[in-house]
Amino acid sequence: MAFTKKKTDAQELPEVLPVHVGFIMDGNGRWAKKRGMPRTYGHVQGALAFRKLLRYANEIGVKYMSFYAFSTENWKRPDDEVHALMDLMRKYLKEAYEHFDLRTRFVLLGDEDGFEADLRQQYIDIQKDTVDFERMTAGIAANYGSRNEITHACRELAQLVKEGKLEPEDITEDMISQHLYTKDMPDVDLMIRPGGEQRLSNFLLWQIAYSEFYVTDVLWPDFNRYDFLRALLSYQGRNRRFGGV
Ligand code: IPE
Ligand code: IPE
Ligand code: MG
Repeated sequence: MAFTKKKTDAQELPEVLPVHVGFIMDGNGRWAKKRGMPRTYGHVQGALAFRKLLRYANEIGVKYMSFYAFSTENWKRPDDEVHALMDLMRKYLKEAYEHFDLRTRFVLLGDEDGFEADLRQQYIDIQKDTVDFERMTAGIAANYGSRNEITHACRELAQLVKEGKLEPEDITEDMISQHLYTKDMPDVDLMIRPGGEQRLSNFLLWQIAYSEFYVTDVLWPDFNRYDFLRALLSYQGRNRRFGGV
């Protein structure tokens, strides 16, 4: 099957290329453990996989990607692992400036106030400096938790009600979507989880209402373009009914 966005004559297939692909980048620790290496080394390799996949998705023409990099629950991990992950983010946010040929807009999905000042500033800068790029949008979910995000949206809407700017009965689904970190992105079409776990781990709960899921035992550092193509082929074979017949 071709990876194009052309519709068939029958016009009954969904867009064959998902518009928004989510990645739960999992399995770095196990990848390292299997090799007798520290977990942090797995994260270094995982970051390399991220860099390759971003470029490849960009080549194929996927418009929106979301990468789960660090959850609100991941702060529970040992200090040295958390520090290693923060340093990797610093490195890759700096490096992002060398990849402007990708014309990719970077969006932080998560609460930037949770980071140390320099990293917070890096996130602010990269979002500002790439805001006009239109080829692709890459959401980086860091200090991200979906329940946290939805709670935050509820508070903002409640505040508008309190100020008399909004009636409760006027709150719509779209309005809620507009108060999430993903406000500039469509809902997820395909959610990919390497590492074999069949769970969402608090990622994009609202945005996956009608997503297709693809779980593979391949660990994230090993996940390559062929694994991505396999996921896309699987997606193309799905029948998305959205509740219809
Ligand atoms: C995913 O890999 C990266 C983060 C959660 C930051 P893990 O570190 O969770 O790897 P496993 O699941 O322990 O193998
Ligand atoms: C999900 O992976 C978070 C990221 C990939 C950043 P986890 O490894 O934290 O998820 P659980 O603990 O297995 O559910
Ligand atoms: Mg994990």
